[in-house]
Amino acid sequence: MKITYLGHAGFLIEDSKAIAIDPFLTGNPLAKHKSKDVIADLILVSHGHGDHIGDTIAIAKQSDGTVVSVNELTIFCSNKGAKSHGMHIGGSHTFEGVKIKLTPAWHGSGYGGECPLEYLGTPCGFVFNLDGKTIYHAGDTGLFGDMELIGRMNKIDLAMIPIGDNFTMGPEDALEAVKMLKPGHVIPMHYNTWPLIKQDPLNFKSEVESKTGSKVLVMAPGESLEF
Ligand code: NI
Ligand code: MN
Repeated sequence: MKITYLGHAGFLIEDSKAIAIDPFLTGNPLAKHKSKDVIADLILVSHGHGDHIGDTIAIAKQSDGTVVSVNELTIFCSNKGAKSHGMHIGGSHTFEGVKIKLTPAWHGSGYGGECPLEYLGTPCGFVFNLDGKTIYHAGDTGLFGDMELIGRMNKIDLAMIPIGDNFTMGPEDALEAVKMLKPGHVIPMHYNTWPLIKQDPLNFKSEVESKTGSKVLVMAPGESLEF
């Protein structure tokens, strides 16, 4: 499968189906893609913050794709004219062969820049299986002990986890997350988009690879790799 890092927490994963996750392109200072470049069957959105819901509506409409998230967020997307499928944490559903389960994430999910913010439900992460590979995208979250359970119940081939600190786990907590998740590979995300979340991903890579059995793939925004 082809994995493209859209920057920040955004990915496009293409195999028998194309899955976009948290496609934040417009207003992302590091993004190399425009929303018109992204075509996806499924658009997974972890929560309602602008740096995650991002270009979801435009991508869903131009792709005739389906937004998958917690129910409150998918109602919001449906009201904006996007096809969507609401779920909730702990629930799974199979979309034309792609099994997706929503996992917990410790974070917020208000939408908009003015009070009162629009409530878009609880944030989430995703475990999904595409063409035999199990992928975990943690969403925006702090470290939590149930990652051990996620790691025990799923043989994770690839985990995308935040390392930026301030809004999410920083690198030290992300290392603990890797120890619990035991993924084959890790892609760090949610760092360096702004100075507040500046991190050195190569330092994270050497820490993880010296202290766990997982390999770290550091991707530049816009970069693709075969996985
Ligand atoms: Ni957020
Ligand atoms: Mn975020």
